Amino acid sequence: MTQHMTADVDHLDALALAFVVRVQGSWTPEARETFEAELAQEGLTPEADALDAALQRARQHFESGEAHFFLCMGRPCQKRQKFDASAEALDRIEAAHGLPVTTTECQGPCKHAPVATLRVGQRSDMFAEFIREDDWRSVLDFAGRAASERTLLVTPGEAQSFRFDPVHDHDTGSGLLQKLKFFLGHFQGDVESTDGGENFHKEAVGTWEVNGRFLGFRMAVTYPLPDGRKDIHTAMVMIGVNPDSGDFEARVYTDGGGVHDYHLEVDGDTVTFSDRVETHHRVKPSRARKVFCPTPYGFDERLEFDRGSGAYELYYRIPMYRSGK
Ligand code: FES
Repeated sequence: MTQHMTADVDHLDALALAFVVRVQGSWTPEARETFEAELAQEGLTPEADALDAALQRARQHFESGEAHFFLCMGRPCQKRQKFDASAEALDRIEAAHGLPVTTTECQGPCKHAPVATLRVGQRSDMFAEFIREDDWRSVLDFAGRAASERTLLVTPGEAQSFRFDPVHDHDTGSGLLQKLKFFLGHFQGDVESTDGGENFHKEAVGTWEVNGRFLGFRMAVTYPLPDGRKDIHTAMVMIGVNPDSGDFEARVYTDGGGVHDYHLEVDGDTVTFSDRVETHHRVKPSRARKVFCPTPYGFDERLEFDRGSGAYELYYRIPMYRSGK
C-alpha cells in the first residue's frame, strides 16, 4: 500500500514537472484546471494540497540552477530520438557543458518530437525535431554556450533550425531564407583581382537573427597601407524576405554611418545584387554587381564589372574559407 502511494507521488511529481516546464515556471488558474483534468485522465486525483505541494516541488526543480535543460522522454519523443539519450550520455553532457539535464514526461507538442526546453535565468526556449545525432549536438552546443553566457541571446548557429515556438503558429524562421544558409558561420579570405590592383583581407560572420527571420552578416575588410598601418572598414548587413513581395532585401550599415539598401536576386544557390558604382572609382565601371555562391570550402564572392560593353566580366574574386564549425 505504502509502495503504491509512493509510486503515485512519484508519478504526480513527474507529471507536475512536465507541466511546469511546459508553462515555463508559472501558470494561471485555468492552466492548473486543465492540468488537473489531464491528471484525472491518468487516474490521478490528488487533493488540492497535494497538488499544490507537487507543483511547488516542480517549480523549485525547474528554477534550480542558473540554467537547466529539460529533455522530454515521453513515448513519442523517445521513439524519434536517433541519438544517445541514455542516463550515462546525459551525465556526460552535464559534465561537458556544466548544465544540469533533467528528463521529463510529455512537454506537449508531441507532433514535433523530439522536444526539449532550455531555461536560462528567467527565460526559456523550446527545441523540437532535433532527430539525428548532429541535430542533437547543435542543440547542446547552443545550450552550453547560452548557459555559460547566461543568456539565450547567444548566436544560435545550427540550433536555429530546431527552435520551436509553441505559442505562435508561424515557423520560427523564414523558409526562403534557408537558401542563404551558406552564409552562416565564420569566414575569411584574400582578394584575387584580375588586374592585381586590389589587396585586402575580408572576414565575415553570418548568424541567424530575430528567431531566424533575418540573417545578420558582420564584415571587416582590412587594407594594408604603404606605411605599414592597416585601414579597417566594418559593416553590418541584415538580410530578410519582404513579406509582401517575397523579395530578398538587404540593408547595410557601415562604420562611416552609411545605410544602403540592396535588392538580392536569388537563383538556385547563387545570390546576385547590383553594387554601387561610385565605390569603384579607380576602375569606373558603368555597372557593377556582386555574385555569391556556395563552395565546398565556404563561399565565393565575386565582383563583376560592365565596363561599357553591356556584359559583365570578373574583376575580383574572394574565396571565403569557413573556419571551425
Ligand atoms: S512526448 Fe515529448 S512532447 Fe509529448
